[in-house]
This record gives sequence, structure tokens and C-alpha cells, in this order.
Amino acid sequence: MNSENVKFFGRRKGRKIRKAKTSLLERFLPLIKLPEHSLISKDMFSQPVERLSLEIGFGGGEHLAGVSSQNPSTGYIGAEVFQNGIANLLSLITGIKQNADLPEVIRPLPHRADNVRIFDDDVRLLFPRLPNGCLDEVFLLFPDPWPKKRHADRRFINPANLDELSRILASGGRLLIATDHPVYKSWVIRQMRTRPDFVWTAKCFSDWRYPPADWVATKYQKKALSEGRRPVFFEYRRL
Ligand SMILES: C[S@@+](CC[C@H](N)C(=O)[O-])C[C@H]1O[C@@H](n2cnc3c(N)ncnc32)[C@H](O)[C@@H]1O
Repeated sequence: MNSENVKFFGRRKGRKIRKAKTSLLERFLPLIKLPEHSLISKDMFSQPVERLSLEIGFGGGEHLAGVSSQNPSTGYIGAEVFQNGIANLLSLITGIKQNADLPEVIRPLPHRADNVRIFDDDVRLLFPRLPNGCLDEVFLLFPDPWPKKRHADRRFINPANLDELSRILASGGRLLIATDHPVYKSWVIRQMRTRPDFVWTAKCFSDWRYPPADWVATKYQKKALSEGRRPVFFEYRRL
């Protein structure tokens, strides 16, 4: 798969990015970007990590910044296309805000481990570099729902992407999907029901109303709640 045969339908840029965040993209992103072309492994971080986790479409990076700070011995790979979101994650990692003057050397906040690497493009282009069973966990939080029927083939949860997630997740690995959209809720159920390689961990139907322990809410999750939409959380295990 290469950039010519992968078509991305979302936004790559939004509002004008302020000066400090532009400098973060220019000066800090190259330091924590995934090395080009190489296979992904636990050795990509400056200290050893025990587990590898992938967050697909991290948006503003609230969840990624939060869980990576709580779990220093896990290595996190974040994939996102939207430049404004990537800039926001860099701001959360460094503590450098919108209007701040930048220090000469930009570093993660002192309490943080060096355990985040960013892929700043469509995650499907990263799949070929992820070896079989290399991930312990994949997060897909509030993916674009593409609710119209004629756009259904744009939904991230689809047979081809599930085949890839199945390949790169370790046996027993977790796949977490959150959504607040009724069309996407039933879409996930229908897609996942056909998969013999994933098992839904919910003990009863109401389990999906609650996020797993140590969850960090994202911008979309907060927006959904403030607008009266109740998110659901699917947790699957790779068999
Ligand atoms: C609705 S937003 C949710 C953002 C974030 N997860 C949250 O909960 O706040 C979906 C995000 O997924 C990103 N995205 C969609 N498809 C993607 C892909 N194939 N690879 C990487 N990012 C993707 C979009 O750029 C967008 O920022």
C-alpha cells in the first residue's frame, strides 16, 4: 500500500496554527516522529519499553498524552493526519502553550518518559511496517462516522482494516473503539460479529456504556457529552 492507492477523505489542516505550535511542528516533531521506512519495534524509544500501543486518529492528543504519561513502560505510537491536532499533542507533551516563547532546546515535560512516537500520515501507510503481533493494544477513539450510506466504505472499521489490526495485534491484545454515533455503533457491532478472530469482552450489554479504567477523555468525547450524546466503548480481545 502506498500514498497513491490510499485515499484520505478527512482534513489535513484546519485553522491557522499559531507561532509557538508551528515551531513545535518544525522543531519538536522531527525528534519524536517515527523513523522513516524502518520496521516498528520496542527499540525505537530512548529507554526500554515492555508493551507497544497504537492510537489511530488521536485528534488533539488528549488521550495519547494522558495514557503515555501514566504508563512510562509502554511505548505509544500515535497516527494522525490533521496538523492542528498533532501540534496540540506536541503542546501537551512539552507543556508549551500557544503564545509561549520557545526555549532553545525543546523537551518533553520533566515528569514524562520518552515513550511517544508520531506517524503524521494515514495509518494505513504505516501498516506494512508493523510486524505480525507486535502491538498489545490499539485505540480507535471517535472515528469519523461517515453516517451516510453512500460513504460507508470510508468508515475505518471495515474488513480490510480489521484484517490488518488482526495481524498486528498480539494474541490477547486489546482493540478499543469508542463512538457516540448511532450509525457507527451498529456498524461496529455488525462488522465485529463476523470476525472469528476478535471477542467482545463485555459481560453484559450495559458494559459498553463505561470506559475502561485509567481512561482519559478526548475532546470529541467531552463534546459528545456536552451535546447530550452518550458515547459507548467497545473492548475486543484478539484471539
Ligand atoms: C472525529 S476525530 C476524533 C479525534 C480523537 N480521537 C478524539 O476522540 O478527540 C477523527 C480523527 O481521526 C483522524 N483520522 C481519520 N482517518 C485516519 C487515518 N486513516 N489515519 C490517521 N488518522 C486518521 C482524523 O484526522 C481525525 O483527527
